[in-house]
Amino acid sequence: MSILVTGGTGFIGSHTCVELLEAGYDLVVFDNFANSKPSVIDKIVDITGKGFKFYHADMADKNSLERIFSENDIDCVIHFAGYKAVGESVEKPLMYYQNNITGTLNLLETMSEYNVKRIVFSSSATVYGIPKSVPITEDEPLSVTNPYGRTKLMIEDILRDLYVSDNSWAIILLRYFNPVGGHPSGLLCEDPNGIPNNLMPRILDTAFGKQDKINVFGNDYPTVDGTGVRDYIHVLDLAKGHVKAVERIMRVNDIQAINLGTGRGYSVLELIKTFEEVNNVKVPVEFAPRRPGDVAECYADTRKASEMLGWKAQLGVTEMCRDSYRARLMLEHGSDDK
Ligand code: WQD
Repeated sequence: MSILVTGGTGFIGSHTCVELLEAGYDLVVFDNFANSKPSVIDKIVDITGKGFKFYHADMADKNSLERIFSENDIDCVIHFAGYKAVGESVEKPLMYYQNNITGTLNLLETMSEYNVKRIVFSSSATVYGIPKSVPITEDEPLSVTNPYGRTKLMIEDILRDLYVSDNSWAIILLRYFNPVGGHPSGLLCEDPNGIPNNLMPRILDTAFGKQDKINVFGNDYPTVDGTGVRDYIHVLDLAKGHVKAVERIMRVNDIQAINLGTGRGYSVLELIKTFEEVNNVKVPVEFAPRRPGDVAECYADTRKASEMLGWKAQLGVTEMCRDSYRARLMLEHGSDDK
């Protein structure tokens, strides 16, 4: 039984490949390295001691997808591949729609042609837009405020329509909250190409001297200390959630949206303080105006993941801060990483 992992050398994809290999699955992986590096392939092998088939391919090229499916016996797909920077999506919406939507349609059409009808889709809490209440359940009304989020919601809608047309599909939409951390080995971490805009990469850039301070976007929110509250989840917990999702779609044909979060919110200042204490570093901050589109609080109701997947996040912000720092330290030391 082979699992096809699209975007498998990315931050969440690579950690998920490690967990799947360690759970005994055979993998076929493809990536176009738009937001990752070829060296991640060797790191996955180093961590697990296991190999897998890799294709340097782009889901924009349907012929390459046909080749992958014709050369391998694929039982299900975990679909990570896609652009994911909110700010960039506002500047380049057509690039996001072309890549994320057309690429996904190419993938789904190829899956149908080869009668592969099981997919775990990498969705996002961004589909909740500005939530009416927290913690957020999967029944929360969906609304999006940027092109990136709109591609996630559109793909969810495409998958919902696909299931209505043919309920022999098995589909799970995993809605990630805020993934952070790195592999405890230090070999895998969030290493985005270009300028990161998420909080933890910015904290790391400040801790490693790439910037002299971190701008805290808004300290006048109605929260514990005025700064934004988010549900940070360790990427290892997220990866394990995907293994549980695969186990379910191999035995149940339906479509389910499931939150992957810890159910606990932390403010920006709480995360920065924890990071400083855990790693014995200083992260200077400067308060700046609120970032357009940001919400005050966003954290998950995790009951459905527990009931349907038998999954619950195990790691806390201490491990998230420790593992993020260690992995970036290793990356900095091996900075000739290609
Ligand atoms: C977290 C908090 C910021 C940077 C985004 C995407 C979402 C998902 C996760 C893919 C907020 C504050 C941040 C900085 C700051 N990605 N912040 N200074 O916006 O919750 O979610 O990433 O699926 O789709 O929208 O994450 O890390 O950008 O921000 O003060 O330099 O940190 O205001 O309160 P966000 P984030």
